[in-house]
Amino acid sequence: MTIRRSIVAGTGAYLPEKIVTNADLARIVDTSDEWIVERTGISERRMAADGETTSDLAVKASEAALAAAGIAASEIDLIVMATTTPDDTFPAAATHVQRRLGMTRGAAFDVQAVCSGFIYALNIADNFIKVGQAETVLVVGAETMSRLLDWTDRTTCVLFGDGAGALVLRAGQGQGTAQDRGVLSSHLYSDGRLRNLLYVDGGPSTTQTTGHLRMEGREVFKHAVTNISGAIMAALEANHLTAADIDWFVPHQANKRILDATARKIGLAPEKVVMTVARHGNTSAASIPLALHEAVADGRVKQNDLVLLEAMGGGFTWGSSLIRW
Ligand code: UT7
Repeated sequence: MTIRRSIVAGTGAYLPEKIVTNADLARIVDTSDEWIVERTGISERRMAADGETTSDLAVKASEAALAAAGIAASEIDLIVMATTTPDDTFPAAATHVQRRLGMTRGAAFDVQAVCSGFIYALNIADNFIKVGQAETVLVVGAETMSRLLDWTDRTTCVLFGDGAGALVLRAGQGQGTAQDRGVLSSHLYSDGRLRNLLYVDGGPSTTQTTGHLRMEGREVFKHAVTNISGAIMAALEANHLTAADIDWFVPHQANKRILDATARKIGLAPEKVVMTVARHGNTSAASIPLALHEAVADGRVKQNDLVLLEAMGGGFTWGSSLIRW
């Protein structure tokens, strides 16, 4: 039996130039490099320049992904862009990217699942390809989280950063087994009851302002390892695989302690975890494609490797995806 599979044809990433260190933050809030490193693993993060928007970052990451895939913008059927920080309330940031890439056909839209956005976007893109509605899809995760932060709140402003990552999926054929190249499965979850643990206190229909990110960090942490591990086990079971089969674990980069605990819980060797949180902080929907691109560019992720992705974020939303590279 042959089935359609969504195969990764190329990846790209872009980080704004400005680096903000923990020492820089210690000058504006009551914090220290020692506290931030010990509790989160973060040493520095990037910040978009004044006037530099989410779609500016997304376009650069997308151009890099298209170049890596050897694909022209005119060949893309669909752009699915995960972001919580669109340039404007509407239109979708994806349509800015579409225009600026010079893509004049197909469709482009945003997906809002906060830090899990890239897993959601990838799942949507994969389904478009599987049912034959698209052949080539650009999947983007891009954020300017710095614009949502309360810079007087030390419990949140030290955690996040700006950036963008993208990948190109192309339709291919597989046998319907875990040996196929491409996206093997995705598992998505949400639980709206947990909204108050991680949210933004504003929006067009409530305050008519953008608002600021608010988080009960300790409570989010408690749910994170359990939810993430559950999504990972669902991915492995669906494909009749075990943790020993995973070549690379590329998680959403929220906190090094969460990633270490998750790797321990599922029995994954630390050297298989792709970790960028120290240099990027939490870039929400951009963190997975940023980390993926880094591991592809430096030669860690190679063709036929089994790559496990997972994320959890506001909503709550969470999920996992398995890709045979
Ligand atoms: O990507 C979306 C999903 N988000 C996450 O996964 C985030 C999950 N949560 C976390 O990563 C952690 O809970 C944090 C990194 C946010 C916080 O770490 P924690 O070990 O849970 O610390 P805590 O919130 O329990 O705070 C411990 C202490 C508190 O002081 P008291 O009450 O013990 O006196 C805080 O006020 O640390 C204090 N604190 C700080 N101190 C210095 C909180 N933020 C800071 C800070 N610098 N930036």
